Amino acid sequence: MERLQKIIAQAGICSRRKAEELIVQGRVSVNGKVITELGFKADISDKITVDNKPIFKKERLVYLVLNKPRNTVATVKDDRGRKTVLDCIENVHKRIYPVGRLDYDTTGVLLLTNDGELANKLTHPSNEIDKVYIATIKGEITKEDIEKLENGVEFDGKTSSPCKAVLNKYNKDKDKSIVELTIHEGRNHQVKKMFEAIGKEVIKLHRDSFAGISSKGLYEGQSRKLTDAEVKELKKLTNKDK
Ligand code: URA
Repeated sequence: MERLQKIIAQAGICSRRKAEELIVQGRVSVNGKVITELGFKADISDKITVDNKPIFKKERLVYLVLNKPRNTVATVKDDRGRKTVLDCIENVHKRIYPVGRLDYDTTGVLLLTNDGELANKLTHPSNEIDKVYIATIKGEITKEDIEKLENGVEFDGKTSSPCKAVLNKYNKDKDKSIVELTIHEGRNHQVKKMFEAIGKEVIKLHRDSFAGISSKGLYEGQSRKLTDAEVKELKKLTNKDK
């Protein structure tokens, strides 16, 4: 968040001093509301106008990564009034939406953006974007189970693509296994259904990374803007810049 006069000056409209005058004169609005207060802070993703003209010609593109908490819906709105992932995001007034889906009880990496083109490419099966999941499974996972997952298992009338599965550990006392699964498909409840297909139940699911973006350093419910380098890399992965 920056002072409004600074954003106007940085957009090349006028000097910071002149911008202060425009604000006091009631000629500046933020997201449709006239602002006359000089201390007002805004974000470059806000819709800022001077004399009703937007200061940025094109819509600013916003790219965020959220560490999705449990019990949130990965949609913009929920008919049942449940908390959505947008409720976790502060200070971004753009119409952003999630890139793909995560279940209500799944935690971890969820990208959000208003860049529809990139979002489509990232979710299109042909781009084979890697997603890494850490699944906690009830019971013991054997070497044979890992092989089956890696070779592909059938659910909903279709076999899953070959993938990478690693048994991280088996906790004998708690009778739970932790499996790291790297897949590029994104079918509905894909991970849970893959384990169900080998007779196992997922009791906890976390997405550790999506297209190489991880939730490292973010607590559940916390988000951050992607760096320019990260956005560039995402575009490269989807062939946008090639
Ligand atoms: N697979 C699932 O089963 N659930 C998710 O939320 C994501 C992948």
